[in-house]
Amino acid sequence: HNNEVWRSAEIVKDYKEGDKTLHLKLEDETVMQYPLGGPPAQLPHLRNPDILVGENDLTALSYLHEPAVLHNLKVRFLESNHIYTYCGIVLVAINPYEQLHIYGDDVIYAYSGQNMGDMDPHIFAVAEEAYKQMGRDEKNQSIIVSGESGAGKTVSAKYAMRFFATVGGSSSETNVEEKVLASSPIMEAIGNAKTTRNDNSSRFGKYIQIGFDKRYHIIGANMRTYLLEKSRVVFQAEYERNYHIFYQLCASSSLPEFAELALEPAEDFFYTMQGGDTAIDGVDDLDDLDKTRQAFTLLGVKESHQMSIFRIIASILHLGNVDIQSERDGESSNLPVRDVHLNHFCALLGVEHDQMEHWLCHRKLVTTSETYVKNMPIQQAINARNALSKHIYAQLFNWIVQHINKALHTTSKQHSFIGVLDIYGFETFEINSFEQFCINYANEKLQQQFNSHVFKLEQEEYMREEIPWTLIDFYDNQPCIDLIEAKLGILDLLDEECKVPKGTDQNWAQKLYDRHGSSQHFKKPRMSNVSFIIAHFADKVEYQCDGFLEKNRDTVYEEQINILKASKYPLVADLFQDDKDNVPPTPTGKSKINVRPAKPAPKNPNKEHKKTVGLQAICSLCTALTTQQIVKILNLYTPVNEFEERVSVAFIRSIQAQLQERKDPPQLLLDSKYIFPVLFPFNPSAITMDTIHIPAALNLDFLNRV
Ligand SMILES: Nc1ncnc2c1ncn2[C@@H]1O[C@H](COP(=O)(O)OP(=O)(O)O)[C@@H](O)[C@H]1O
Ligand SMILES: *[C@@H]1O[C@H](CO)[C@@H](O)[C@H](O)[C@H]1NC(C)=O
Ligand SMILES: *[C@@H]1O[C@H](CO)[C@@H](O)[C@H](O)[C@H]1NC(C)=O
Ligand SMILES: *[C@@H]1O[C@H](CO)[C@@H](O)[C@H](O)[C@H]1NC(C)=O
Ligand SMILES: [Mg+2]
Repeated sequence: HNNEVWRSAEIVKDYKEGDKTLHLKLEDETVMQYPLGGPPAQLPHLRNPDILVGENDLTALSYLHEPAVLHNLKVRFLESNHIYTYCGIVLVAINPYEQLHIYGDDVIYAYSGQNMGDMDPHIFAVAEEAYKQMGRDEKNQSIIVSGESGAGKTVSAKYAMRFFATVGGSSSETNVEEKVLASSPIMEAIGNAKTTRNDNSSRFGKYIQIGFDKRYHIIGANMRTYLLEKSRVVFQAEYERNYHIFYQLCASSSLPEFAELALEPAEDFFYTMQGGDTAIDGVDDLDDLDKTRQAFTLLGVKESHQMSIFRIIASILHLGNVDIQSERDGESSNLPVRDVHLNHFCALLGVEHDQMEHWLCHRKLVTTSETYVKNMPIQQAINARNALSKHIYAQLFNWIVQHINKALHTTSKQHSFIGVLDIYGFETFEINSFEQFCINYANEKLQQQFNSHVFKLEQEEYMREEIPWTLIDFYDNQPCIDLIEAKLGILDLLDEECKVPKGTDQNWAQKLYDRHGSSQHFKKPRMSNVSFIIAHFADKVEYQCDGFLEKNRDTVYEEQINILKASKYPLVADLFQDDKDNVPPTPTGKSKINVRPAKPAPKNPNKEHKKTVGLQAICSLCTALTTQQIVKILNLYTPVNEFEERVSVAFIRSIQAQLQERKDPPQLLLDSKYIFPVLFPFNPSAITMDTIHIPAALNLDFLNRV
């Protein structure tokens, strides 16, 4: 049903082929004629036996289709307040948006040591399973949390971490588990922001590995982050905010120790006011800064270092308020004499004022024969300024992550680990741009890992073992990934357009239409020639081309960076030193979300002038690498044993044998459109066999014949 999703009914008159309607009796006893459409007739989904509705494992359902899944989840949630449900080894969680009393230490201890199947579904059961398997099978584990933005991923990941900290806590005084938990408020402050979907949305992906010793006590941890949404530093859509830390600092401007930051209310900084209301209901930014500082202290970041961090963050706010003005000729720009925000920026970062003033409005151009200095028109100067702000923030973000990692690092030998991947989920907003494109592309890659893991591998094994088995047409998203990353795909064309001297977003869009107009996963919207639609695995998303080139280039000017490198503050100078080696000297830039093998660009000693080319493309090589590493981690991820048993060859044989004995038609359900694990009734005798149905499309005759 369009609105209610699921409405139960009974057929009161037999259906014959060719009938145009079904005669139904609804639960409230009303009788209705249900139009079948077609031909061919669109028969409604079959209903599960009442006794199965509300089961805690979706694989127990006789009919597993989307409405049945949603209905079952709804019944569990509305009637019994259960937010967790299994689907085989997958735990499905519903965000209750209210504090439930199911996460206390008593609950952790109740789940500790228990079997997954013996208890109500719970995030702690999944954590316990990982912990147990690590010990029992001597295998490293990974928990992957995925879902749409706002679904509850970060909260779930945090509960899993709390479980490990509690059951794997060391008795010694190192309390490393406390530090692991303390990293959360810091990462939230610098990496979370309010979006229209989630007041507390993580704008970066995170993979935390918790290290254990031989006795399965936590001895350390390591965190890897990827795809930080840098654009938010300089731009926020309506009703959204910049990263929490900016507002925390503005709210604390009157603290005596922050006087030197010269902060004003968040409404007065361009980088914090673009989304409108700067406050969030129920959030006290002043109070949260206190928590952020305590967490820093717990992680061993000295007061003086904390002040350095806050100085850098404040400097970004001031940089955003530097008043770049256009000259009358329209070809150049300038700054007011002694711009007060520029003064603060330079003082806070300990850099040379006159230099900065000059290079905010000029750039160096290098040709083979000469080097000259050129004025920048206002838009170019503003873009460059914003690129610099983003770069400073991203470098600081990485520095903090490194620092946290140092605090969580252990020198003792790590025996095993459990990883928790909190990927930030598939996103679609009113207006989608480069950032959503990157996120959704990353999710597309993750989904592929999941597909190949659950489906491809299993099917290949059946074929190898010559088990009668028809290839099931699962949703393979390779075509969509090809559309994005293959030669002359969306990314490739974007890179090309960035290299064309007069390249524009509009021209790029045109090239996309020309090249991919007929692709199954690509569409040009009828009413627009500046946007395109991609049919992702999760949904269709329309992307606005505007700004893609600029964001993909993400050019930071070397002259500006050089000034920061010369800062009198070691931390600031330090932030900008090492990336020299990471950045390939390609003046045009390359997609930062390249997940193809990213080779370091070859250094060419003969072309000395390359290094001094004014444009410096900040290609996030590290981003590409870490996405790759994540993909690798997922490839290594092994299923829990119970699941392997379920779908192992031996298991299928035994099911077949059992079914033969029982003379009952078996059940094997698989929704070919959406991705659920391959489902066999785990315990066939527990299934009511009266309503078995095998979709003909699955070609599972071999099972029918039994
Ligand atoms: N298990 C839960 N219990 C109560 N509230 C939750 C739970 N999971 C999520 N929430 C609420 O939903 C909000 C968004 O969750 P979050 O984990 O940040 O989403 P995601 O990381 O998927 O974008 C949280 O701030 C919290 O208020
Ligand atoms: C973000 O979430 C954490 C806990 O998950 C909470 O302590 C914090 O107050 C939240 N911040 C905002 C801005 O919602
Ligand atoms: C698990 O990871 C550790 C490193 O943390 C490694 O030494 C060990 O060999 C891994 N175990 C397995 C079974 O791969
Ligand atoms: C796009 O559409 C606008 C108006 O809708 C039009 O002015 C413009 O020329 C079009 N551009 C291209 C490249 O077709
Ligand atoms: Mg999150």
